[in-house]
Amino acid sequence: MGLLQKILIPVLGLVLAFCFYSSRENFKPEMLKGKRVIVTGASTGIGEQMAYHLARMGAHVLVTARTEAKLQQVNGKLGTHTCTHRHREANLTLQVVERCRALGASSARLVSGSMEDMATTRQLVEVAEAELGGLDMLILNHVGKSYFNYFDGDVGHVQKLLNINFLSYVAMTVSALPMLKRSGGSIVVVSSMAGKVGFPFTVPYSATKFALDGFFSSLRQEFSIQSVNVSITLCILGFIDTENAMRAAADVLLMSPAPKEECALEIIKGGTLRQREVYYRYASTKLPLLLRDWAAELLDLLVRQRYRPERLRAA
Ligand SMILES: NC(=O)c1ccc[n+]([C@@H]2O[C@H](COP(=O)([O-])OP(=O)(O)OC[C@H]3O[C@@H](n4cnc5c(N)ncnc54)[C@H](OP(=O)(O)O)[C@@H]3O)[C@@H](O)[C@H]2O)c1
Ligand SMILES: *[C@@H]1O[C@H](CO)[C@@H](O)[C@H](O)[C@H]1NC(C)=O
Repeated sequence: MGLLQKILIPVLGLVLAFCFYSSRENFKPEMLKGKRVIVTGASTGIGEQMAYHLARMGAHVLVTARTEAKLQQVNGKLGTHTCTHRHREANLTLQVVERCRALGASSARLVSGSMEDMATTRQLVEVAEAELGGLDMLILNHVGKSYFNYFDGDVGHVQKLLNINFLSYVAMTVSALPMLKRSGGSIVVVSSMAGKVGFPFTVPYSATKFALDGFFSSLRQEFSIQSVNVSITLCILGFIDTENAMRAAADVLLMSPAPKEECALEIIKGGTLRQREVYYRYASTKLPLLLRDWAAELLDLLVRQRYRPERLRAA
């Protein structure tokens, strides 16, 4: 009886706590009305879809990508032969902004710059402060281009990717924190299953995503100790059907991708409800992760079985 009590009561408590925790608030699109939101890496993929959802919900949307920085570079230094191509890319991002306006955004803006450069991150946040007068949600989503193949030993590439995928997230957070503290705002960090378990063929990328978990999970603990009312939501995504991901991995991965539109909505919901982590899709992310600490080798094996290495493109 004693033992039963010792086990049963805590387990029951946990189950009840979980039920309470998971049903404490429901998402309503009105929650985003008039909120000031930055979405980084919103020229394509999941970021673009998040911008459209936020626009429909009536938020002030500020999207970022490199496009115009590239354009300025072209005008300043590079040859004119690439000009039309760069213009097309810039126009694509402007189309995102136009569409956000048409969908009902309270306002929509584009700020461009490469996240490889920490000065840019500061400028982006300064623009947000000047134009929006504050910030309610910072959605960090951009990722630099990498390869999908065996690790090639290029240390310089790992460093560059760490700058874009990790350090810029840190720098943006530091710059935006005063505004987020004032608004009781939220930070949403888009990560991946590859940031929780070792996946093959994305070694530099995985390293940057693991780094995000370490930084933001530690920071969340400090916010909690110091009663800083800024939520941090880490998003663990499986395979999503964005153009870039499909091009890189669809041949090699034995997995059906989940839709980017629904993925984008789940990220916004989780961030708005100030959840600790978002898992999408739940069954293909949260459930396998239950094995991680108890049967790591089994999980490694299950992961490897999802890959067809013979279909990798020659590097
Ligand atoms: N798709 C998946 O299967 C999947 C799975 C797990 C996690 N995720 C995560 O979900 C997020 C979005 O993925 P996605 O597939 O939607 O990506 P994506 O379509 O490749 O979009 C990446 C975005 O980042 C921007 N970007 C690239 N390099 C940049 C730089 N140096 N500076 C500033 N911006 C830069 C790109 O715009 P420009 O090129 O115009 O700058 C683009 O808007 C990422 O964090 C990714 O790790 C995706
Ligand atoms: C923290 O911020 C949220 C959202 O802005 C707000 O609903 C909540 O009341 C705040 N909590 C405290 C303790 O100030």
